[in-house]
Amino acid sequence: MKICCIGAGYVGGPTMAMIAKQCPDIHVHVVDLNAKRIAAWNSDVLPVYEPGLDEVVREARGRNLKFSTCVDEAIAEADIIFISVNTPTKTFGMGAGRAANLEFIEKCARQIARVSHGHKIIVEKSTLPVRTAEAVGRILNSSGNGATFDVLSNPEFLAEGTAVEDLLKPDRVLIGGASAEAIETLASIYARWIPREKILTTNLWSSELSKLTANAFLAQRVSSINAISALCEATGADVDEVARAIGTDSRIGPKFLKASVGYGGSCFQKDILNLVYLCEHFGLREVAAYWEQVVSMNDFQKRRFGERIVKTLFNTVSDKHIAIWGWAFKKDTNDSRESAAIHVCRDLLREHARLFIYDPRVGEAQIREDLVQAFADPSGHIHPANQKLIDENVFIASDCYAAADQAHAIAVMTEWDEFKTLDVAKIYSKMHRPAFVFDGRNILDRKRYAQVGFEIHAIGRS
Ligand code: UDX
Ligand code: UDX
Repeated sequence: MKICCIGAGYVGGPTMAMIAKQCPDIHVHVVDLNAKRIAAWNSDVLPVYEPGLDEVVREARGRNLKFSTCVDEAIAEADIIFISVNTPTKTFGMGAGRAANLEFIEKCARQIARVSHGHKIIVEKSTLPVRTAEAVGRILNSSGNGATFDVLSNPEFLAEGTAVEDLLKPDRVLIGGASAEAIETLASIYARWIPREKILTTNLWSSELSKLTANAFLAQRVSSINAISALCEATGADVDEVARAIGTDSRIGPKFLKASVGYGGSCFQKDILNLVYLCEHFGLREVAAYWEQVVSMNDFQKRRFGERIVKTLFNTVSDKHIAIWGWAFKKDTNDSRESAAIHVCRDLLREHARLFIYDPRVGEAQIREDLVQAFADPSGHIHPANQKLIDENVFIASDCYAAADQAHAIAVMTEWDEFKTLDVAKIYSKMHRPAFVFDGRNILDRKRYAQVGFEIHAIGRS
């Protein structure tokens, strides 16, 4: 059996590496238009940082796992084709700012139709609006060159930072489709390492909607606890204590109740906005408004954090040195898409702060690019004054100590483990007084920071 995957990103790369590792007899060919990304997959420094991923790729690459830019060739040879290209929020035209941009999906479908012969199973891995599979099927089946297709929806539930573990032991695998035979072919691949009872099958549209719904529910939990964190700050309650107290109720459960500076990542916001757009499309205005509030609450949480820094620093951060610890949207990934750090830092730059940023995995070029995008208008244009703010007020530090050297305040944006074990006295000795720390992830040992003299502000604590 031969598998092809179009899109060697955070989902396509790790997922295909795991299939190749678990099924040495199946040839897995991952293709991407981005030659630089493919070169990285073929090198010792993978484009995606995930704990444990290097070992998985090393085991299978060169044996039955291949990365290349030969899209046509990979499609033509494959029995099963996964589509794992990105589906960003539209920035133009109808549904701008909400609907998914399906341009890449449609181009993939047309390319598959053009080069295919015989029968193929097409698997949607990308997160898509409900009923996209139907459109993909129509494009494929109108190719006129005799090829036939079954379309399946097989959304990926892995979380970045724990992708290898999630792929190895998923809570469930979801396969939606109309053809029992095609579903069984795909299910039998996963069944090589995942118990059968964890492989759920549904109709196509339920599968597509389940992915959007899962992400909406997860994001809603974070927005819910973050909403309560604002109330905790006002009343003197402690949000971590509240989370522990409610999390022991088995109906609520303890996971995904960590208050933070706001959720990020490529999925939550995009998928909720997509859900909102779908609801509006079907005339369900109240349902759309309900889910949109999850995104509004997240925006509020990010904005609130920056405002708290400014207010606490005597209502001005102009020309003040602020250490930013962490840029990734969560720990154990090099991904910064939609990271709360971007929004908070943009707001601080508008206040003319000088930012000294350190992240263990996100590089300088990415950080600067993220900030340019944060200031740019929808056409990508950045006002020269804003570009100047970035050029003159953003510095990249080599570690937490260097970032905090001569700083007025520290802001923790990502929950990296290494931030928990620093020499607090050493950091304090190099900072301006009073020295402030704003813990956007509630990971620092408050007592230790307070003992050496820091004034510490955390999420959901007055
Ligand atoms: C994936 C899914 O596709 C997305 O819908 C889901 O919500 C999250 O996970 P991800 O793997 O994170 O996205 O995206 P990204 O890392 O951007 O990878 C997509 C890759 O597809 C890129 O490397 C891009 O170059 C490639 N691509 C895109 C193509 O090869 N062809 C195209 O036409 C478009
Ligand atoms: C998410 C889903 O978890 C995954 O199933 C889906 O396939 C893709 O989207 P991901 O975005 O990679 O995964 O990471 P996740 O662990 O869900 O975290 C998302 C954001 O929420 C991060 O910024 C994280 O820091 C934040 N978060 C998460 C919190 O602020 N508090 C929490 O309790 C949990």
